[in-house]
Amino acid sequence: MNNQKISLNKYLDNLLSFVRKNTPDIAQKFEYYFKQNFLKMFEINYLNIKTNEEFDIYELNKIAEMSYNDLKGIDNTFLLGFRYFYNLKFKIEKGVFVPQPDTEGLVDLVINNHKNHKGIEVGFGTGAISIAIETYSPNKMVAVDKNPKAFMLATENQIKHNTSVTFITEDFFDLEFETKFDFLVSNPPYIQEGDKDVSEWVKNNQPHEALYSPDHGLKFIKQLIEEGRNLLKPKGKMYLEFGWKQRDVLEKYLKDKVVYTFHKDINGNDRYLEISYENIKKNQK
Ligand SMILES: C[S@@+](CC[C@H](N)C(=O)[O-])C[C@H]1O[C@@H](n2cnc3c(N)ncnc32)[C@H](O)[C@@H]1O
Repeated sequence: MNNQKISLNKYLDNLLSFVRKNTPDIAQKFEYYFKQNFLKMFEINYLNIKTNEEFDIYELNKIAEMSYNDLKGIDNTFLLGFRYFYNLKFKIEKGVFVPQPDTEGLVDLVINNHKNHKGIEVGFGTGAISIAIETYSPNKMVAVDKNPKAFMLATENQIKHNTSVTFITEDFFDLEFETKFDFLVSNPPYIQEGDKDVSEWVKNNQPHEALYSPDHGLKFIKQLIEEGRNLLKPKGKMYLEFGWKQRDVLEKYLKDKVVYTFHKDINGNDRYLEISYENIKKNQK
C-alpha cells in the first residue's frame, strides 16, 4: 500500500481539472460522487471536512475509482471495504460473507440470555457475530468456518476490536470437541438452490457455500440440530437464523424432537430459532 499523502485540495484540483478537460459532460456528476464517497470512506460529516488536511493517495485513488463506478452503475461494496454490524466496524472482502443487519437479532438473543458462558459459532465469516458477542457481553466464543479466507479476515477484525474469540478453520461437521458449550449460535447456509427471491447482488457477491443448502435449504440446519445435542451442556441452547418462508416446514421437523421457540426479526418475520433439548413436553405452538 502507498502511504504517500496529499492535501484534499491539491488532489481534487488535479483530478477535477483532468476530468473536466477529458470528459466535460460527466465532470459535475463525478465531482458529486467523489464528495459523497469521500464522506463515506472517511466517515466524516460534510461540515468537518478540512480541505487542506492531508490524506493517503491510495485511499483517494480508491475514492476516484468508486466515483467512476457510480457513473457506470458498478457496485462499490468491496472497494469501500467495510460494513457496520451491531455498531462495530468490520473489514469485508469478496469471498467472505458480508454481514447483514437481519443477523443482529441473533446476537440480541445470545446477549440477553447468556452471561459468562462459553459459546460456539458455526460459520463465522468476518467474525461479526462472535466479535459482537464478546464485545457486548462477558461470554467467551469459539468459532468455526471452513473458509480459510474467513479466518484471515476475522482475525484482522478481532485485532481491531480487541476480543479473544478462538477461530478455527475446519468443516464443522468433521470436528470433535472435548468441552461442552452453554450455547451454539449460527447464521448457517439456508437457501434452496434456485430460490427466485435471492437478489442479483447476493448471487454475485456472497460466496456460494455461505448461502445454499439442499433439502429446501434445511439440510445444514437439521444437521446442526442433530449434532448440536452432543456438543451442548444438558441445559445448553441453540440459536439459528433461517429464511422468512421456512418457519412452517421447520416446525413440522422440530415437533417432538426438541423444545423450540421462534423469534421475530425487526420486520416482524419469524427468523430465529431458539432450541433446547430438555423437557421436550414443554413444546407449545
Ligand atoms: C451465511 S454465512 C454467515 C457468516 C457470518 N456468521 C455472518 O452472519 O455474517 C455462513 C458461513 O458458514 C460457513 N460454512 C458453510 N459450511 C460450513 C461448514 N460445513 N463448516 C463450517 N463453516 C461452514 C461459510 O463459509 C460462511 O462463512
